[in-house]
Amino acid sequence: MDEQIVDVAVVGGGIIGLSAAWRLAERGRSVTVLEKGEAGRGASWAAAGMLSPAAEIGFEELDLYRLGRESLRRWPEFAKQLERASGSSVGYRDDGTLVVAVDRDDTEALRRLYRFQQEQGVPVEWLAGAEALEIEPILAPGLPAAIFSPHDHQVDNRGVVEALLKVLHEVDGGTVRESSKVRAVDGRGDVSVVVMEDGSSVEARVVVLAAGAWSREVGGIEPRLPVRPVKGQILSLRMKEPFELTHVVRGPDAYLVPKADGRLVVGATSEEQGFDTEVTAGGVYRLLEGAVEVVPGIEELELIETSVGFRPASRDHAPLIGWVAPNVMAATGQYRHGILLAPVTADEVALEVDAKLGERSETSEWLTPFLPDRF
Ligand code: GLY
Repeated sequence: MDEQIVDVAVVGGGIIGLSAAWRLAERGRSVTVLEKGEAGRGASWAAAGMLSPAAEIGFEELDLYRLGRESLRRWPEFAKQLERASGSSVGYRDDGTLVVAVDRDDTEALRRLYRFQQEQGVPVEWLAGAEALEIEPILAPGLPAAIFSPHDHQVDNRGVVEALLKVLHEVDGGTVRESSKVRAVDGRGDVSVVVMEDGSSVEARVVVLAAGAWSREVGGIEPRLPVRPVKGQILSLRMKEPFELTHVVRGPDAYLVPKADGRLVVGATSEEQGFDTEVTAGGVYRLLEGAVEVVPGIEELELIETSVGFRPASRDHAPLIGWVAPNVMAATGQYRHGILLAPVTADEVALEVDAKLGERSETSEWLTPFLPDRF
């Protein structure tokens, strides 16, 4: 085989592309990741790192819920392996999540979520407001109810992408090319050709398309992948004594995620504004208002960061993972769940790609509900 031809070119250096590249490199594949900007600095960086399959889906989205739970099950091992390989922490935390209500309507909505979780066999606990305060004393006094979800964890998403980059650069010998924008992919032949914006090209036996919210912009794939950006504004505050928050807290209008480095991440707006990168007064105001409502003590904390990320959303808000051309596999559309879904997506994409390259016959059953041709 021509040495210029890599086994796999991954378009997109976010958590999905990097995780898939890592799993493929582990299997002995030569992998080149092509990232239009700085790897790991898009939605993967802006995210809060919550690993909570039930909190952000509709009750009818059972396939997505199952995929999320399976990925959550795989997360501890994924984190352990990544820490071992990279030598750096990915901040996996299993303190659990408190989903809190602030009024009667929320309490009703919370009860529906609680019933759904019970039907699905998820071990969650219904708490009166006073019981929630015992678990997390910094919550607003007088909240009517909460669900404690001990199995909804979190991870330091920034630590994860940094560890993935380290492993790909130093340990497994993958290549990550930054500032390398892909114009189009021609996946019709035995060897796929990735055409770069500067006119150069990369040849690969298989291409994995993991360009997140930008997946639709990659030419050569027909029909274009139906993925749109959903803007999220998100903030970081600096925690300082006596403020102490251990659990992830989700209120009706904002979530609060404490990080080991002292940041308290408060997110996130959800806006259909295309690729608008502006942080707005209204966005910041609504997030802080939603956060103060459930944890008033944040008023004393310093605001240290505001940012914007673009969730890649498909029409039904479920991911698109599967073959879109003979040698081109999509792994995109993770929407609100990119961090959660990274382990299962990476494992199953690696399985499929290995099968395509002729090493194994096994293919992924997990991906069947998420094939891109469902639209
Ligand atoms: N999963 C967090 C968010 O989409 O805001």
